[in-house]
Amino acid sequence: MIRFKENNYNKIFVGLSNLIRYICGGDRLNRITKIVDELLTQTYLKKNRKLKILDFGCGSMEISKKIQNKNYVKQIVGSDIFKYRYVSNKLVYVDYDELFKKKEKFDIIFIVDVLHHIGVDDAHKTIRKLSKLSDNIIIKDHFEHGYLSRQLLRFVDFYANYGYGVNIPNKYFDKISWKKTLTKSNYREIFHNKNFQQHDGLFNFILNKKHHFVSLIVANE
Ligand SMILES: C[S@@+](CC[C@H](N)C(=O)[O-])C[C@H]1O[C@@H](n2cnc3c(N)ncnc32)[C@H](O)[C@@H]1O
Repeated sequence: MIRFKENNYNKIFVGLSNLIRYICGGDRLNRITKIVDELLTQTYLKKNRKLKILDFGCGSMEISKKIQNKNYVKQIVGSDIFKYRYVSNKLVYVDYDELFKKKEKFDIIFIVDVLHHIGVDDAHKTIRKLSKLSDNIIIKDHFEHGYLSRQLLRFVDFYANYGYGVNIPNKYFDKISWKKTLTKSNYREIFHNKNFQQHDGLFNFILNKKHHFVSLIVANE
């Protein structure tokens, strides 16, 4: 994500952290984009038509930019509480408030590393709102495994989001809270990768794959 909230004080930290990330296998986008791409391709094949996609909590739309030229894309709409007005042939940005007023329908939504910022206990409210827009949602988020794992996730979240002004959560999903979120949202999982390797090298060593999951959920009838 582009650090669009940069200022003079955090430029050095941001530059240094980008360098460390580059050297130590900290690129998060390659593998995430690949799995999002795979799940979108499956949906495209199932629906047998090009997809209208919502990138919810899109940030600077880095994932959308990478997939925008895929043959399954009809259009990708990005929306976030931060305003990022990137537009291209197939990408559009819609203001957060507008998104829910317009009630535009999408073939599928993807939500990458956003729900934990909204809050584990409130995530179902957001999914319920999004259920008015689509029956299919791809979610990438984190699982915590006890106190130390939670603090590690908080530290990495702080490091990854420094300069954005994004809320760092007090807790993350675990298997129980994730199941509850699905039940309260009235969705069910049709794909779940509970050990999703996001990083390489040192970054993968520090925050290994048990901390990341990817899910494809569909609305219950
Ligand atoms: C770690 S970034 C992920 C950005 C993008 N999805 C990606 O993977 O590159 C988290 C994003 O969640 C957004 N966010 C936080 N709270 C949100 C909310 N209540 N509704 C929508 N987006 C939110 C932030 O603005 C930020 O862009």
